[in-house]
Amino acid sequence: MTVQIETRDGIALVTIDNPPVNATGHAVRQGLSDAVARTEGDSAVRAVVLACAGRTFIAGADIREFGQPLAAPHLPDVLARIAGARKPWVAAIHGTALGGGLETALACHYRIAAPGAALGLPEVTLGLIPGAGGTVRLPRLITVDRALDMIASGTPVPALRARELGLIDAIAGGDLVSDALAFAREVADRPLPAPLDDRPPRPESAEGALKAVAARHTDRARGQRAPLAAIEALRNAQTLPVAEALNAERALFQALRDGAQSKALRHIFFAERAAGRVDRLKGIAPRPLDHIGVIGGGTMGAGIAAACLIAGLSVTMIERDADAAEAGRARVAGILDGARKRGKLTPEDHAVRLAAFAARDNYEALAEADLVIEAVFEDMDVKHAVFAALDGVTRPDAVLASNTSYLDVAEIARAADTPARVLGLHFFAPAHIMKLLEIVTPEGLDDSALATGLALAKRLGKIPVIAGVCDGFIANRIMSRYRREAEYMLEDGALPWEIDAAMENYGFAMGIFRMQDLSGLDISWAMRKRRAATRDPAERYVDIGDRLCEAGHFGQKTGRGYYRYGEDGRAQRSAETEALILAESARKGIARQPVPETEIMARLLAAMQDEGACVLDEGIAQSAADIDVVIVNAFGFPRWKGGPMFAGGA
Ligand code: 3HC
Ligand code: NAI
Repeated sequence: MTVQIETRDGIALVTIDNPPVNATGHAVRQGLSDAVARTEGDSAVRAVVLACAGRTFIAGADIREFGQPLAAPHLPDVLARIAGARKPWVAAIHGTALGGGLETALACHYRIAAPGAALGLPEVTLGLIPGAGGTVRLPRLITVDRALDMIASGTPVPALRARELGLIDAIAGGDLVSDALAFAREVADRPLPAPLDDRPPRPESAEGALKAVAARHTDRARGQRAPLAAIEALRNAQTLPVAEALNAERALFQALRDGAQSKALRHIFFAERAAGRVDRLKGIAPRPLDHIGVIGGGTMGAGIAAACLIAGLSVTMIERDADAAEAGRARVAGILDGARKRGKLTPEDHAVRLAAFAARDNYEALAEADLVIEAVFEDMDVKHAVFAALDGVTRPDAVLASNTSYLDVAEIARAADTPARVLGLHFFAPAHIMKLLEIVTPEGLDDSALATGLALAKRLGKIPVIAGVCDGFIANRIMSRYRREAEYMLEDGALPWEIDAAMENYGFAMGIFRMQDLSGLDISWAMRKRRAATRDPAERYVDIGDRLCEAGHFGQKTGRGYYRYGEDGRAQRSAETEALILAESARKGIARQPVPETEIMARLLAAMQDEGACVLDEGIAQSAADIDVVIVNAFGFPRWKGGPMFAGGA
């Protein structure tokens, strides 16, 4: 039975058991509706506790049902029945009460949560707004500006904060269900509280006035409809009678659900969960992971080490000499300090994590490592020297990984005595923040080594995507291709800020030239120089980036790049860059033609889709959805467009 009822001492315990996350699919909705009828009709029942089996309270509506016609009873109707019950309902929340799950809890008369629970309305992350009363009931329980913030950001709040906000009535001190039953026994004798629907909206709090919260979310929306619909729904909740506000919410929800943005976001939701699944690994256990070695304490090595430490792993970092080891140690300590300041680590955890870290200048310190990640200079000879050295010092069953951005992982692996234990683990900067992890699989890779790489991704909370070996794997290969297309457009008639504006208007977090200025133009210049000898002379080559670097313009860090940067660090159009671009077009005999914004995006998308198709054909990516996951998570491609392959109809 999906919904069970057991009555003890006058209290009915209604338990939902719908793995994996107790989503409110049809069986749950029907079961809850029946439970209201039964408990209302049973004179032995004085109060009801609603709890869930398994890992979590209801995590929302069943997203898989969204593409299909929904069968009655519908969630808003079921929740109206709970809200109208004559016996008090107490929601007992563990894990996450999300979306329709929190809305169910809001329909109950009381809420009690386990200390580790989190509560939220994350519908905007799926291109939606709450569709079962959340926008109307939440601002009647917590202040309207905080309700808007929760709904428009989609960010869940932990139990403690929920208690401060007035979202829950109590935090369980012992076993949640026992505490909830005791709570229900107590409230059974009190008069039934007025349902939320009969209460007025709570006024805005002094510190977070509604107008300011609405303006912040409007600014951040960048073309997304759901946050704006959330603002509209909250206004309705304040100005319309409850029944009308609920109807208006439902209409907004349905329009969003059937719209392109929500479809795209649902595609990415499921694609992210399917990524990194490899059928042939079923039954293959990953090797134990406790102790990670990291070679190189620069930008990436430090970020990777910090990510591992934050996840509770021990880390030994190896650098070239004592000074470099100290610099690497300081970088890692700086990241952990930042995590403590942002509340990601408690002071106690911070001390424990730091104690699990050592920076050394001798490879022997890696004798106990379960997995070693190399993040030294992007140079094949240096990588070969590292992998040859690792063979002598690591346990034979340790997995060895390279964080190379572009180099041939199979060739790196050949430097080791046992190449079958070598794979690529391509993190993105900053490695302790970015969620994506490309897992690069050279031919002949041992299955248990691959399973271990995937287990590490899970432990670090990353989204793993399997990639084959090629220049740049999935992410950098596709990025190189569309960057080239953007450079062609510079010569053909567009200017960097026009291309960036087109991308940002499409929804990218940042345009490609601004992004390059930020990461520094010198690194890719060095790579182009290394590759100059092997470049196909027949291929169109744009020299503008080289010309900028020759003039010492390495991007934001030098105050000049594609843009000019003032004291405040803001990017401004650069007349010097414009003159340089015009001169390059003239030198090549190109008659510049303005490139309209729609054409800019059409050309960039076509380049991504075309390269994506090649990556698929060559078996470098396992699916078009994997490519979308990579591009959305690596380069600020708007999630609500679903990724380039989805946008192209793949
Ligand atoms: N519907 C259907 N399936 C869901 C689901 C949902 N709401 N939420 C999670 N799942 C599935 C996942 O697809 C996955 O399935 P798989 O094992 O076959 O891949 C499985 O449950 C486990 O999910 P995760 O791998 O994400 O497990 P985690 O433990 O890492 O995270 C979670 C659990 C925090 C609940 C996370 O799954 C999550 O954030 N889910 C979405 C929550 C959400 O957005 N809810 C709102 C839905 S819209 C709504 O409620 C509308 C309402 O207002 C009317
Ligand atoms: P970096 O230059 O910041 O750091 C490299 C570090 O390796 C230096 O501290 C250096 O002292 C150390 N090192 C060099 N040879 C060594 C050796 N033999 N033994 C021990 N330490 C050694 O470089 P960064 O940016 O951290 O890049 C490292 C690797 O990660 C490169 O392969 C790069 O392509 C890749 N990468 C870089 C990304 C980025 O955004 N910077 C993103 C993803 C991958």
